[in-house]
Amino acid sequence: MEHTITTQKVKFKVFRFNAEEDYLPYYDDYEMEVTSEEVVLDILNRIKWDHDGSFSYRRSCRHGICGACAIKVNGRSTLACKESMNDMVDLFGSELVIEPLSKKRAVKDMIIDKSDFWEKHAAIQPYVVTDVDEAPEMENLVSPHDAEALDEADLCIQCGACHYACPAVEVNDDFFGPAAFAAAYRFEADVRDESETRLMDVNQMGQGVWDCVKCFECREVCPKEIDPIGKITKLHQKLFQEGKAESNVATRHAVGFIHSIAKRGVLDEGGLVLYSEGPAIVKHLPVAFKMFTKGKIPMPWQLPKSDNMDEIKALVKSSTTAKF
Ligand code: SF4
Ligand code: SF4
Ligand code: FES
Repeated sequence: MEHTITTQKVKFKVFRFNAEEDYLPYYDDYEMEVTSEEVVLDILNRIKWDHDGSFSYRRSCRHGICGACAIKVNGRSTLACKESMNDMVDLFGSELVIEPLSKKRAVKDMIIDKSDFWEKHAAIQPYVVTDVDEAPEMENLVSPHDAEALDEADLCIQCGACHYACPAVEVNDDFFGPAAFAAAYRFEADVRDESETRLMDVNQMGQGVWDCVKCFECREVCPKEIDPIGKITKLHQKLFQEGKAESNVATRHAVGFIHSIAKRGVLDEGGLVLYSEGPAIVKHLPVAFKMFTKGKIPMPWQLPKSDNMDEIKALVKSSTTAKF
């Protein structure tokens, strides 16, 4: 089949900021003919090479494996060298906004200060904690079966792309972030590890795994396909299984979800909010009232119920790990 290269006009709004000179960031506008062969990094290169040599960004491998080029396009985290311009235009239309992963950490245009990534990463004991025999008679081998439990979390290259793609990190300076959690999981899953504090460190409210909002941005941007949100879910499960998950909005949300499915086979959203929030639900009353008047919240007796409840209850019983 003949391969045809097409072109289209695209308008770009590009974030600019130089921490040494500018008080506030601003945006530069460009309009370019973009070909179907180009990726977002080609556009960054063209801005620098053809329009403004001072435009700054990071890139290294150009093959989607180092994470250096991660930026945001129309608010979506992406690896610039991997993301096709065609796909971006299909998704967002012909007006694109190019910004760094974290605007508040911008140092120079797309380049951000990544120092807090290392602080968070170091804080979760990213190493095997164990008593080491200084003169072992043989190697301490990990079987292939035990190594599988790491679920490839050990392949993380600590590029930080997921950390700065994370909206929870952006609004909460205490949140450990997806890369630190993936590292915490990697060592929690290691059969040699004996840390007694790591799992409890990631269990804390404000900085721990319960403050993840499950947006999947970290999974989207990771060049090594580590799937940090998958590792966060495994840490949730481990905390439930070991009886260490404390009652909070996030854990009650998980348990309330199961209660709803076990009771009706469908999700009772109003009941779930009530179960998760407890007395704090009063803060949602104005919104709930508006939703009720628009017919968005059914009354309890209007909720549907699945026919095959025995099967659903058996499934819930066999699969659930949630307990306090
Ligand atoms: S899924 Fe959780 S950890 Fe990952 S980016 Fe979203 S909030 Fe952050
Ligand atoms: S999990 Fe992926 S995106 Fe995050 S630091 Fe590791 S390699 Fe980079
Ligand atoms: S330059 Fe390495 S992932 Fe894009």
